[in-house]
Amino acid sequence: MNILVIGGGGREHAIIASIAKSKKATKIYCAPGNAGIAELATCVPIGVMEFDKLIAFAKENEIDLTVVGPDDPLVGGAVDAFEAAGLRAFGPRANAAIIEGSKAFSKELMKKYNIPTAAYETFSDAEEATAYIKAQGKYPVVLKADGLALGKGVLICNSEEEAIAGVKEIMLDKHFGKAGDKMVVEEFMTGREVSALCFSDGKTIRCMTSSQDHKRAGDGDTGLNTGGMGTFSPSPFYTEEIHKICTEKIYEPTIAAMAAEGRPFKGVLYCGLMLTPEGPKVVEYNARFGDPETQVVLPRMENDIVDVFEACIDGTLDQIELSFADNAAVCVILASEGYPQKYEKGFPISGLEAFKGSKTEFVFHAGTKFGEDGAVLTNGGRVLGVTALGADLKEARANAYKATEKISFANKYMRHDIGKAIDEA
Ligand code: AMP
Ligand code: GLY
Repeated sequence: MNILVIGGGGREHAIIASIAKSKKATKIYCAPGNAGIAELATCVPIGVMEFDKLIAFAKENEIDLTVVGPDDPLVGGAVDAFEAAGLRAFGPRANAAIIEGSKAFSKELMKKYNIPTAAYETFSDAEEATAYIKAQGKYPVVLKADGLALGKGVLICNSEEEAIAGVKEIMLDKHFGKAGDKMVVEEFMTGREVSALCFSDGKTIRCMTSSQDHKRAGDGDTGLNTGGMGTFSPSPFYTEEIHKICTEKIYEPTIAAMAAEGRPFKGVLYCGLMLTPEGPKVVEYNARFGDPETQVVLPRMENDIVDVFEACIDGTLDQIELSFADNAAVCVILASEGYPQKYEKGFPISGLEAFKGSKTEFVFHAGTKFGEDGAVLTNGGRVLGVTALGADLKEARANAYKATEKISFANKYMRHDIGKAIDEA
């Protein structure tokens, strides 16, 4: 099969590394890809939102399957556009990707179908939102821009003053653009966070192994929210018992609810969970593989991923059982100093060759490009994800941090406490 992957980050690099192991894959393309992906796939300079160009490319190159990685093209209808052109694509259609594209939609869905989540109200008027927050008088309170905001449209406000400033930022100053036309005001939850990534064909659901992300920029969960600074898998807090509860109360009801709404969800449903004292609750849904969760989950998957993609498209996922290695993985993101705000790029990266051919250590490129002389340069806030496997989480963590030492570039920044929670398990 000729396979096209849309996207160009660490998630897409990890997806392509899995596809490259498939018996079914002959030629792999990636649009736009990056310098690391270029080792496994032919990168084509087409943007993820250029649907007409992507479809023309897929037809010209006899692409049998297209995998859409990021949220923007999914929410924007990439899969619909491919299907309308008679092409096979993996991922939810726009009417299902809305589960990530609109927090107001996802909260309404959970309320209607009794799926556990934080109590909330939705507002399209800043004054009404402020009046509600004052009347409640409960802090911290969580404010969420309705639409896509690069994972940054969530504000946790510790006082009335902060909350009023937050409403202004989202709804009046439009800090997150049109994503802030509507806003969700939500009860603050406490507990461990777990990312549960599940394949679905619209009817059947198959969960991948669990993982946990670290969203804040600094050690000890301080600083600004980022796209994710590191992950580990599995989560020692996500027990068999919790998995059973989540399957019964969250995963299966969500897939059934989407089908009942005439929005069958085919693709990867990412359930961001909080293990609260009252039980697991949904923090958010995403309509895609997580980044950098994928970088620790897929290296542990034993299935042929192309079989799973096809079963999701064909509605035959009930015939597949997923299988994960009985080991652990940790991914440490190497970022540019200053991320997620201001940072410089264009610095040469050395040490990448140390990972070539390894079956236990991987370097997934997030923001890299080739310089004129062919050198690999930093090209983003998140630059690389260094993943290592180990017999258990502690070993994987030690291996991952050791592996980060092999790589150097100017302004290299990383957190030093990825997987620290393991010690409390
Ligand atoms: P989200 O983009 O919805 O995943 O939110 C980003 C992060 O904000 C989450 O990973 C949580 O750490 C935090 N968060 C979101 N909603 C809540 C909530 N209701 N209570 C506590 N923390 C939250
Ligand atoms: N790691 C969080 C996300 O992919 O949204």
